[in-house]
Parts: sequence; structure tokens; C-alpha cells
Amino acid sequence: MTTKSIDPATRLRGVVHVPGDKSASHRALLLSALADGESRIEGLSPGHDVQSTGVIVEQLGASRVREGSATIVTGPADGLRASDEPLDCGNSGTTMRLVAGVTSGIDGEHLLVGDPSLSQRPMDRVAVPLGRMGATLAGRGERLTAPLRVVGTSRLHGIDYDVPTPSAQVKSAVLLAGLHGDGPTVVRERVRTRATTEIMLAHAGVSVESLDVGAGRRVTLLPGRPRPATWFVPGDPSQAAFFAVLGAVHDDAAIAIDAIDDSPERVGFVTVLRRMGAAIELVGSGHGHGLSARSASLRATTIHASEIPSVDEVPALAVAAAAADGVTSFVGVGELRVKESDRFTGSMALASALGCTVWASGDDFFIEGLGSARKFHSFNQPATLDHRMVMAAAIAGAAGNGCVIDGSETVSTSYPAFFDHLAGLG
Ligand code: S3P
Repeated sequence: MTTKSIDPATRLRGVVHVPGDKSASHRALLLSALADGESRIEGLSPGHDVQSTGVIVEQLGASRVREGSATIVTGPADGLRASDEPLDCGNSGTTMRLVAGVTSGIDGEHLLVGDPSLSQRPMDRVAVPLGRMGATLAGRGERLTAPLRVVGTSRLHGIDYDVPTPSAQVKSAVLLAGLHGDGPTVVRERVRTRATTEIMLAHAGVSVESLDVGAGRRVTLLPGRPRPATWFVPGDPSQAAFFAVLGAVHDDAAIAIDAIDDSPERVGFVTVLRRMGAAIELVGSGHGHGLSARSASLRATTIHASEIPSVDEVPALAVAAAAADGVTSFVGVGELRVKESDRFTGSMALASALGCTVWASGDDFFIEGLGSARKFHSFNQPATLDHRMVMAAAIAGAAGNGCVIDGSETVSTSYPAFFDHLAGLG
């Protein structure tokens, strides 16, 4: 385990090139592997999570080679096949849930395994709909935690599924399985989660139709095989969020972040931060907007989970709340408890370590901010096996009065160059 000391930064200036979006990277690998022939991916995330998916598509029969900055994936003409070896999803929930969807449509038995953190995360949320489609999934206990055994069949049934808890991973698992359906597959979500899968399926020539219904969405997919494609993966907005918050809470900062996926389900954190008074702009156009973030005095706000579906940005926003004036409420964020670590407890613990008063009620928690990052206490962040908790701690230490982080190597899950990029800002 690696321990890292973060010193307070006096002045932060520069441009950050965040890694390729993790969500788009997993899907680019999987859709390319499902296609018949050669696909090209530019900008793939260098993180271990995406590497896990890359190794798995090879085990399932695709080839994967680097060609300069690109990754070339060739899907076998006769389709993917079961591997004799376990499919190791590492720390990556997205890998396990999406691969559960893909392997549900591949004849034979597949064993999906993960690290100690992933092996505690619920897989029943994908096992239920995939089971209804005709696959058989078995895991440990009531929540069907990994190791997850999937018995797949290339003759699945199309279903109409109303996702009970908003989740892009569950939606995507069902849609990927639906490619092997005997008819249309419909997925309904009550809150619009990231549409990465739908958009990328359409780009690969699959018939997929998406309709906004109130605050939610109905997606209808027809079975079919994705075509080989060229993919340009945009920067990851959930990584940009750490630098956006850092720029906002530090008292002498001007940070720019290069092109990111700026789709509405991904940049809710920008709206939240602006409501708090942050000087954050979406700038430029073309391959997604960039961000610019400058120092500002923040005020408390109420943040509803639906504003930031998937709640990936909560650990960063907890740091913003800690620096804000007043009590910030995080409402309906119970899903945080089943991420790479319990981020509900973790985000509260981080704000508490910074010196804030924090409390919880049901699925909501509250942070009474100190009014300035200057007032943050220096602190020790315990190991969590959770990349986002490490990065949130690091920006709090840099903006405030330093910190010591155990298990800092965990950033390589999604952002291996994170500490270099942070140091590059001064
Ligand atoms: C992801 C979906 C989200 C998110 C994760 C990536 C995806 O999880 O937390 O980092 O790529 O589909 P949920 O689907 O569980 O909300």
C-alpha cells in the first residue's frame, strides 16, 4: 500500500487533460468485440478498470492491439465465445455488470470474479432482469455478490424492464443482452442516467430509440449485431469534477480542463457548483466542452441525487460543501453506500476530518461548511480501495492544509496520472 502526503498549494494554474471517459471506454471495447471485424478506439481510458474489460474481451475471443495512440479491437466473425478461465473484473463494477449483460448472450458458462471491494457490491440488480431474459445468474447471498456465475444463451428473450433504482450500468447490461433477444427490449428509467450505451449502440448501427418520459426515459432496442466502428472517447467529466472543485475552493486558482463528455447527465455537478457561487464555465465546443474554474466564495445548497445521477461526483462536491458557507444537504444519495466503498459514510468522514460538523438522516446527509478551504484541518485519509475517495481527499489537502492518504495507488483504477496532473498545477 502506498501512502502519499499532499502539501497545501499556494497558487494553482494550468490546463488538465483528464483521461478518456471510463464509461465510453468500457463500451467501446465491448461493442467493438461484439462486432464482426476491426474497430479503432482513440482516447481509451488508461485506468485499470478499463484494462480489466480489455483483458476480458480478449478472453472472450476478440483481439486487442495498440497502434500508436489507438487501440484496435477485432471481433471474431462467428461471435464471442465462453472462456475456460474466470473473467477478472478487478475493482470495476461497470465491467462486471456490463460483462454480465454481454455473457448472458453467449452460450455456456462464465465465471465473473472481482477484488474484495467489488466482491461486496450487489449484482442482483443485473441478475434479476438478465434472468428474466433467459440467462441464469448465481452469486453469494441475497444480493448475489461475486463470484458471479452466468449461464448464457444466444437465444435470450426481449423484455420490458422498469429499472427500480436509476443505474446506467443496469440499463446497459439489459441493452447489451437485448442484442441477442428474440424481439425488442425496452428499458424504462425514472431518472435519465448517462446515455453512453444508447448513443454508442446507435453509432455502431444498432436500432435503438430513446424517448424522454417525464424526468425519465424509455429506450427501445431491436436485436442485432453492432458494426465495427471508429470511436473517439471524450475526456471523463467525473474526473474533471475534482479539478473543478479544486479550482473553486482554492483561494488562488485558475484551472482549465480539456474537452470532456458534456452530455447533460454528466455535467450536473457544474450546475450544482455554479449554484454554490463557483466561477465555473463550460468553454469551447467541438469534441465536447472544456471547463474553466477559478477561486470563488461558495455558499451552501441542496443537492438532489437526480441532479447527478450515479452520484459519482459526490465525494468532490463534499469538499465544495466543506468550504462553503452554510449547511449543504445531499438528498437521496443512498446509492453511495454500494459504490467502490461506502461513499455515504466516506464523504461524511472526509468533511468531518476537514473540521466540519456532519450528520445524516436516512438517505440524506448534511455538511456544515467552514466558509473557506483555508480553514480545513490537515488530516489522514484511511485506505478505502476507492479511487474517488482518494482524489477527493487529495484536492481537499491541496486546497486546505495538507493531508496524508493511505492507499493512494488506488487512483490507477481510473486516473493513473492524477497525482502528476495535480502537481503540474503547482
Ligand atoms: C457507470 C454508471 C454508474 C457510475 C459508474 C459508471 C457506467 O453506476 O457510478 O462509475 O459506466 O455505466 P450506476 O449505474 O450504478 O449508477
